[in-house]
Amino acid sequence: MTIRTVSTTPFFDQKPGTSGLRKAVPVFQQPNYLENFIQSILDSLNEIEGQTIVLGGDGRYYNRQSIQIILKMAAANGIGRVLVGCNGIFSTPAASAVIRKFNALGGIILSASHNPGGPNGDFGVKYNVTNGGPAPEKFTSAIFERTKTISEYKILDAADINLDNPGSFNLGTMEVEIIDSIAPYVKLMQTLFDFDKIKALLSSRNFKMCVDSLHAVTGPYAHTLFEKYLGAPKGTVKNGTPLEDFGGCHPDPNLVYAHDLVEILFGENAPDFGAASDGDGDRNMILGRNFFVTPSDSLAILTANAKLVPGYRGGLAGVARSMPTSTAVDKVAEKLGIDCYETPTGWKFFGNLLDAGKATLCGEESFGTGSNHIREKDGLWAVLFWLNILAVRGKSVQEIVQEHWEEYGRNYYSRHDYEEVKSKPANDLMEQLRLMVGSLKGKKYGNYEVAYADDFSYFDPIDGSISKKQGVRIGFSDSSRIVFRLSGTGTKGATLRVYIESYEPDASKHNIETQKVLKPLIKLADEIAKIKEFTGRSEPTVIT
Ligand code: G1P
Ligand code: ZN
Repeated sequence: MTIRTVSTTPFFDQKPGTSGLRKAVPVFQQPNYLENFIQSILDSLNEIEGQTIVLGGDGRYYNRQSIQIILKMAAANGIGRVLVGCNGIFSTPAASAVIRKFNALGGIILSASHNPGGPNGDFGVKYNVTNGGPAPEKFTSAIFERTKTISEYKILDAADINLDNPGSFNLGTMEVEIIDSIAPYVKLMQTLFDFDKIKALLSSRNFKMCVDSLHAVTGPYAHTLFEKYLGAPKGTVKNGTPLEDFGGCHPDPNLVYAHDLVEILFGENAPDFGAASDGDGDRNMILGRNFFVTPSDSLAILTANAKLVPGYRGGLAGVARSMPTSTAVDKVAEKLGIDCYETPTGWKFFGNLLDAGKATLCGEESFGTGSNHIREKDGLWAVLFWLNILAVRGKSVQEIVQEHWEEYGRNYYSRHDYEEVKSKPANDLMEQLRLMVGSLKGKKYGNYEVAYADDFSYFDPIDGSISKKQGVRIGFSDSSRIVFRLSGTGTKGATLRVYIESYEPDASKHNIETQKVLKPLIKLADEIAKIKEFTGRSEPTVIT
């Protein structure tokens, strides 16, 4: 087997976004495109000689081919051992768990998360560091800088490795271990949750649940956890066979893209509990019978009920949420007397807080919740957390949420996405907001008075780094809030995200339709940001 050094020229669009490099599959299939990015990752790491890395992805189209290329490049660059998920599969949370378990140097995760897959869908590459979490900005910037100057990469001339069964192989001097990617994850879950109690709930005749894996990576994990270990009847997990194109669907667990599950939970004889996960298994959507739990509320409720769950019985060190996530969890933290951190969008910002023991639970409005058990958000973990709470409290999802609102007040919340708008007007829209925010304080818009407005900047209390331009937020004197930012994960044009929140302490007003409550603020968002004028759109494409 010989190591080949291949000459290459840079691609100038390899800047990692909110969560790694994401592009359409044909972009990744261009000669040298994937190779350049992988070599740039390897070049940005110190002392890789003999180290262990973890490799796998969500099973989407181009996963298998990429793994073969990456293995040969890892071998040519002196990596000592690669742990690959069987069939090339790792859910993102399972990859994080395995990096931690084996003290690996890091991991390469192949996923475009909730973006559609297939030959014309999206693909992605993300590097996770030793703590199991996404590489911090300092590291992703170094990778980007390297992609701009790269002139060669190294690859081993060798036959492909069989990924289909557990086993060990040698690739040059490197060892390749194909490992079961489900068992270590299930084991970790057993240390956190009361499996006996959940099993009693799931095997009782009075409780029915439905889990939709959306033809994506969580299928095998969910079958094993719920149907094999926790006594749920076969058929509880739907769409549980991962497909390279996710069956042509958009594997994003929200009210729009997980509509089949929504129909079941809002239909006749609906089950008591419903849940869905995204393409790579880090997101979750929680539903009760005829009831949707917003992710921001879910984080607040998990925090308030954490003492009921074995893994968190000892109490929480603190909580963290991304800036656009509703402030529902802040109220719980206040009552518990723990710190609540506000970070920019993206899981990578939680890593330092978790490592330093400052936060135990973290969450984002974008259907992401997780804890210090790994350094990624974790869809099935959130489902198990909810099941554990339901099993202990013996109440319905709706009762639990409504009781929560009674105690803490309700944060009405919605996100409006304007997808695939042109990049230039989207950037211009943000720029005018940035210029405007300094002078908004005290300004009145009808009944709303601006209490503060800024372009969010985050000072990381652990490493002292500063992340600027993380979204424009405008807060009003009645605690309501509008946030504007551009997506960092989209692959076509720009996506404008508008986050709208209002707080209602009065329990008699807790059962009004969200969009109705938020209507005046939605109108105000358009008035302030001139969304129609800049984007030409009068309606968002997705409302969650
Ligand atoms: C989106 C979400 C963000 C999440 C990320 C990865 O990023 O908004 O909360 O961490 O996906 O799942 P965005 O496209 O907004 O940059
Ligand atoms: Zn994801």
